[in-house]
Amino acid sequence: MFLSKNQIVFYEIMADEKYEKFVLEEDQELRISTQENDEENIEIEMVYGTGEIFGYELKKDVRYTFGQGDKFSIFSFQGCTLHVYGLGKFAVKPEVSKENPMIMYLQLHAGLEQMRKNADENSKKDKSTETENGGECSRGPVVMIVGPTDSGKTSLCKLLVNYAVRMGRRPVFADLDVGQGNISVPGTIGATVVEEPVSVDDGFDPNSPLVYNFGHKSPGFNLPLMNLYVTQMADAIRDQFKVNRKAEASGVILNTCGWIKGQGYEHLKHIAQSFEVDLVVVLEEEKLYTDLVRDMPGFVKTTWLPKSTGVIPRDQPTRMKARDKRVHHYFYGPKKELEPYTLEIKYSEIKDKIFKIGPSQGEGMFKISDVHPSEGKVLRNHLLGISFANSKEDLFNCNVAGFVCVTEIDTKSKIVTILSPQPELPADCLFVVSDIQYNYQKSTSHAMDGYWP
Ligand SMILES: Nc1ncnc2c1ncn2[C@@H]1O[C@H](COP(=O)(O)OP(=O)(O)OP(=O)(O)O)[C@@H](O)[C@H]1O
Ligand SMILES: [Mg+2]
Repeated sequence: MFLSKNQIVFYEIMADEKYEKFVLEEDQELRISTQENDEENIEIEMVYGTGEIFGYELKKDVRYTFGQGDKFSIFSFQGCTLHVYGLGKFAVKPEVSKENPMIMYLQLHAGLEQMRKNADENSKKDKSTETENGGECSRGPVVMIVGPTDSGKTSLCKLLVNYAVRMGRRPVFADLDVGQGNISVPGTIGATVVEEPVSVDDGFDPNSPLVYNFGHKSPGFNLPLMNLYVTQMADAIRDQFKVNRKAEASGVILNTCGWIKGQGYEHLKHIAQSFEVDLVVVLEEEKLYTDLVRDMPGFVKTTWLPKSTGVIPRDQPTRMKARDKRVHHYFYGPKKELEPYTLEIKYSEIKDKIFKIGPSQGEGMFKISDVHPSEGKVLRNHLLGISFANSKEDLFNCNVAGFVCVTEIDTKSKIVTILSPQPELPADCLFVVSDIQYNYQKSTSHAMDGYWP
């Protein structure tokens, strides 16, 4: 009796589950935009055909969960059928669109792939005829994606990275947008060799990433420091290429921020020069394209591509929430699969080890000031980068091992409480305070409410 009753309940649940069916024809995409404060998730299942999200291939008959501000499209080259569950209270209904620049983006990928093949050939020549190799490059293409805010730069980077990985390549993705910090946390620039396709919900899987803690969401806050980190990152990637030929032949895909005017433009030129880019792709803005054609050296190819009409502009509150979500994912994982540690540290253990780097008012490029563990205003809720530097003077020449967040300061017992991804801090490390704050209490209560995915 019990058995058969359970069976009936099971079938009833299955029958009650409602989904909406979307049929995509060749070269069409389904655009989806969830809201940041949506409590409920949606699930998407591809039941027929082929489909991809920014180049990430969907598996058939698998349900993928999205929500809390995820915005994306499912594109199909050959057509597919999708079932979308949980659309009941959905504010923005998904929309099927035929208008998209995917063919042009695919041609860009094909061009990059040809350059990688050339790099492979040259690298073979390298070994057989070392002396005759004059000038030929065994490094794959370094491509920089630029454009105004909300022109689809990051999405195009994901697409190019995913297509490269699907071809068996191992490209370096370098994210120079400190406002979002796609590889680590906001306020950082990062680079990683990508081994697996990148999905929308998980973000980049940081495989020993190289991260610099700039400590602010706008590069203009301290442009000399930002430029210095860009140069250091480019040098570090070149060094990495010497020992990772596969990554070298795959090249670099560079994501930039939407600051393209005045000093922002000069900053883009600095990036291009440091990374020795081969190709600059300008999205949307024609003036930026003509300026770059004029200012880039002759051997750099510059192309213009339209922005996708599917790109969804984000206002400041949305960006703030996205930054908070990014930090939350850093500590807890995109699927809450991580458990950070709460560590209590005596003032005496970290005294003389906390610093803040600011723009210089007088001589010198930057100002490094000491921060005492009791300085609640500077430290509470702030992220601290754990620097590989051995001395104060070395702080702006070093990348970081990771981040902790100061959650409490007890001035009576002289103890600082921090949230840390690791159970112990590296021995003798130095900390650099970031302006990026993370409201730990608020975010954890949200997490319990199911606010975060
Ligand atoms: N075809 C599409 N359909 C639906 N959403 C899309 C599409 N393309 C991009 N988006 C979404 O639009 C938003 C903005 O795109 P994206 O982040 O790529 O722009 P961006 O130029 O990098 O912006 P920013 O200047 O803020 O860095 C993102 O949430 C992205 O996921
Ligand atoms: Mg972006």
